[in-house]
Amino acid sequence: MLVFILPFIIIAILAKVLLPKKKASIKGKHVVIFGGSSGIGKALAILAAKEGAHVTILARNIDKLIEAKNEIKNYCTDEEQIITKVSVDVVNYEAVENNLGEVEEIVGPIYMLVNCAGMAICGEIENFTQQEIKNLVDVNLIGSVYSVKAIVPKFKKRREGIIVLTASQVALMGMYGYSVYSSCKFALRGLAESVYMEVKPYNISVTLALPPDTDTPGFETENKTKPKETRLLSETGGLVKPEEVAKKMLNDALNGTFFSYIGFESFILTTLCVGMSPFQSVFDVIIQSCLLGMLRIVGAFYTIHFNSVIKKCFKEKEAKKNK
Ligand SMILES: NC(=O)c1ccc[n+]([C@@H]2O[C@H](COP(=O)([O-])OP(=O)(O)OC[C@H]3O[C@@H](n4cnc5c(N)ncnc54)[C@H](OP(=O)(O)O)[C@@H]3O)[C@@H](O)[C@H]2O)c1
Repeated sequence: MLVFILPFIIIAILAKVLLPKKKASIKGKHVVIFGGSSGIGKALAILAAKEGAHVTILARNIDKLIEAKNEIKNYCTDEEQIITKVSVDVVNYEAVENNLGEVEEIVGPIYMLVNCAGMAICGEIENFTQQEIKNLVDVNLIGSVYSVKAIVPKFKKRREGIIVLTASQVALMGMYGYSVYSSCKFALRGLAESVYMEVKPYNISVTLALPPDTDTPGFETENKTKPKETRLLSETGGLVKPEEVAKKMLNDALNGTFFSYIGFESFILTTLCVGMSPFQSVFDVIIQSCLLGMLRIVGAFYTIHFNSVIKKCFKEKEAKKNK
């Protein structure tokens, strides 16, 4: 089996190395980042500033926005670069649309829109309040739909643009404790794949980021709500720095890559769940086709491991109850 697929894998790797795709540039362009005042979004804003882009960050808390704006400014490479901030709730469509219009007037046409506004609350499904469910769906799903809906007409008119949505690894697989969050992130894949088809003829690209656990203020808050099972299942993956995730996201977005992921586990997961998602080259398809069957077996071992951890926790809980 390996002897049969090895030549295809080697050809695919060589083609990737020898025939690199032309990368877009954001130098002098306007990059807008929802959730740019913290975590992954702020790290991406800093990178964009380093690349010479004009950067607008949007979030709700004005103090955090001011602090982030001052920090991002330090990384500008050109005096002409404009760094702006807008206080807005991404769940308010009119405010999103109006603010994007206003920043375009001040800074110039938007070339890249990144949505990093999001949050996670963990827990078993029965323990969520209705308000928590609504908040999660609003910011993680509705906010993304709104930001995309607001930007697409502008990009279509100019026949260029880059859209980046931030999902998660749990956009590809369900996980104990993530029922509500994971539902929203799964939905982002549907959003990204559908919009990808709609905007491709207009020279607009869509990238769906699938960050692993990342060391951000948002992750710190999420950790406070994690059931023991969720902690045990996710701790093997380690913690990635937001700068690392942002670098990969920006690079993938500028290369027009659909899935942006980091690390070997994410590679396995993304390949396994590739489905009908957009591909960049025929060589990607060769790699995925060669690996899919084998990775299903690897995935099955992960599933067995996850279920055994959950069963162990269940037995512990039952034993405590019966004491
Ligand atoms: N960290 C991880 O481990 C991880 C892993 C996978 C995916 N992700 C995803 O990556 C994205 C960024 O996460 P992060 O960890 O960097 O989070 P973070 O540090 O908490 O930053 C979230 C940002 O979103 C803004 N925001 C939240 N709700 C908003 C709203 N309703 N309207 C406008 N802005 C809003 C926040 O500012 P305000 O609160 O001031 O509005 C902040 O700027 C999220 O979508 C998250 O689900 C994170």
